[in-house]
Amino acid sequence: MRMVDIIQDKRNGKELSDEQIDFFIQGYTNGEIPDYQASALLMAIYFKGMSPKETALFTQSMVDSGEKLDLSQIKGVKIDKHSTGGVGDKISLIVTPMVSSLGVPIAKMSGRGLGHTGGTLDKLESISGFNIELSKEQFIELVNDYGLALIGQTGNLAPADKKLYALRDVTGTVNSLPLIASSIMSKKIAMGADGIVLDVKTGSGAFMKNLEDATDLAKEMVSIGNSLNKNTVAVITDMNQPLGHEVGNANEVKEVIQVLKGEKIDDLLTISLAIATQMCLANGVFTDENEAKNALIKSIEDGSALNKFKQFISNQGGDPSVVDDPNRLPQPRHRYDLKLDKKGFIHGIEAEAVGQAALYLGAGRAKKDDNIDHSAGITLHKKIGDAVREGEAVATLFSLNEITSSAIEKLTEAYTIKSSAPEKIEYVKTIIK
Ligand code: URA
Repeated sequence: MRMVDIIQDKRNGKELSDEQIDFFIQGYTNGEIPDYQASALLMAIYFKGMSPKETALFTQSMVDSGEKLDLSQIKGVKIDKHSTGGVGDKISLIVTPMVSSLGVPIAKMSGRGLGHTGGTLDKLESISGFNIELSKEQFIELVNDYGLALIGQTGNLAPADKKLYALRDVTGTVNSLPLIASSIMSKKIAMGADGIVLDVKTGSGAFMKNLEDATDLAKEMVSIGNSLNKNTVAVITDMNQPLGHEVGNANEVKEVIQVLKGEKIDDLLTISLAIATQMCLANGVFTDENEAKNALIKSIEDGSALNKFKQFISNQGGDPSVVDDPNRLPQPRHRYDLKLDKKGFIHGIEAEAVGQAALYLGAGRAKKDDNIDHSAGITLHKKIGDAVREGEAVATLFSLNEITSSAIEKLTEAYTIKSSAPEKIEYVKTIIK
């Protein structure tokens, strides 16, 4: 087989065979195929697309390019959840104890944050002692005994994707639907769960800015998952503003605890219930959507989700007393109330600008091995639709360090204020099965 023939076939709009896809993916991963030929094929895929069958094969081949997490020793149907990335996105920390308290085993591998979006691991590490570096045996034992454990990314999962993503980044081929979908799904599938619930974000702060593009991406990912025998569902949710009121790390954990204690934080609760319901259905613990939703609401009302979260923290070496007393989480030294010189109604809070401002405060990392200030972040006192009086604080910025003018300016940029109220936001747009 010759790489040039594969490139020409795709350039001419042909469907690639299983053997051709494997030849390319494995050959590129092990360095036998040079970047210039891989780039040419990526560009041909960018213009000619891939059929659902090709996209599934492409994904499977990327999964096969490296290690796979073997969760077969965990009893029951394991369900994973993935978000395409958002600011203030703490949904994983809310839904995992909820569904786990209903008997759905959760063996989750999560990542760290880079750039303007935070990572679940960084949020958890704001809890004193919390350990994400479990051995595989400890991880499996915790899930079997307690139904929930979470580790950092280990092993060499989908190395083909890592290499191809870097190449796409410099060859103008990131924005191809089959390439994005196969990239995300290859990493998820390598994590070994039986079912996957995808939270596909749409809006100004999301990778997919409009609902149509988000729906296309969701359909493509669901099709890949189901073709590769993973029960896959996508929930399309709003990312026109950060999720909830807290953006940072320790303050996001505090907000998770508030939701699990029954505080009805609108967008967080609505989206969490939608995702958690799909996780229960994918596992099979419930077959009826309403029954699942009611049981999840009850898991908050009767404290079982909160107890599960507390047990989870304690199992992984963290200080569980933060649940009863969130003031034990890292506290900032400096605060600044942001007031705008306009009054009216909030029409927009650009999630990306809020994420950047939080990064400037020390809550995120600009480079992979930067240190994080877990106490740093932003509290949004007002969300889209809220009225603002002149001189009223719309947000508070906080950090261990002095609050810089660059963080204040960035956060100020995030707001759009108009004189009349905006339309109400639909937090959950649609579900793709
Ligand atoms: N996220 C990924 O993991 N891959 C893409 O291609 C785009 C976003």
